[in-house]
Amino acid sequence: MKISFTPARLQDAPTLARLDKESFGAMAWPEDSFRSALRNPLQETEMAVADGKTLGYVLMNYQREAPSTACVDSLAVSPDARGQKLGEQLLLRGLETAANKGFQEVQLEVEKGNAPAEKLYEKYGFVPTGLLSGYYNGKDGTQMKLKDLQGTGAQLLAQRRQELAEKLGGIPSHIFTTAP
Ligand SMILES: CC(C)(COP(=O)(O)OP(=O)(O)OC[C@H]1O[C@@H](n2cnc3c(N)ncnc32)[C@H](O)[C@@H]1OP(=O)(O)O)[C@@H](O)C(=O)NCCC(=O)NCCS
Repeated sequence: MKISFTPARLQDAPTLARLDKESFGAMAWPEDSFRSALRNPLQETEMAVADGKTLGYVLMNYQREAPSTACVDSLAVSPDARGQKLGEQLLLRGLETAANKGFQEVQLEVEKGNAPAEKLYEKYGFVPTGLLSGYYNGKDGTQMKLKDLQGTGAQLLAQRRQELAEKLGGIPSHIFTTAP
C-alpha cells in the first residue's frame, strides 16, 4: 500500500469528521470544528492517504499556548489501518514541523488509559506534566509535553525517523521540504 502525506483542505472537513467519529465516538469533532481549524492559518492538518482513502490525520496548533509551545490538537488513524506505523509517521511529521518552525516544546492531552496513544507519545519523548481531572466527559486526562525540541527532542526525532525508515524501507521526506 502506497501512502502519501498531504495537507488537508477545506473540502476534507467531512472526511476528517467521519474519521474522528470512528476514533473518538461521542467526543469527536463535528465538521464545523474541522472547517474552522482548516481556515485557521495557525492550525495545520496533514492526512495519510492511500488509494484515495484518508486513513489518518494529525492536527497541529501553533497558537494555542505560549508562543514557544506548539500543540498536537488531534491525531487519529482509521481503526482498520492501525498498527502499520501510520500514527507514528503522522506524529513525527507534526513534531518535525513544529521543530522546523522553531518551537521549543510540544504539548498535548490524552485520556488516561488510552494505552496506544500514551505509548506512542512516550516513545516520542513526551512526559506527563499535569492531571486533567474530568477533562474527557468526566474521565481524567493527562497533559504531556515534549521538551527541548531544538535540542534533545530534535535528536530523539532524528533517531525515531531513522528507525522508522529502516522498518518501512524508507519513509517520505518531510512535507515542507519535499512535495508529497
Ligand atoms: C493512537 C493511534 C493514533 C496510533 O496509531 P497507529 O497507526 O495504530 O500506531 P502505530 O502503528 O504508528 O504505532 C506506533 C507506536 O504507538 C504505540 N502503539 C500503537 N498501538 C498500540 C497498542 N495497541 N498498544 C500499545 N501501544 C501501541 C506503540 O508505541 C507503537 O510503537 P511500537 O510498534 O514500536 O511499539 C491510534 O491507535 C488511534 O487513532 N487511536 C484512536 C484515536 C486516539 O486515541 N488518538 C490519540 C488522541 S490523544
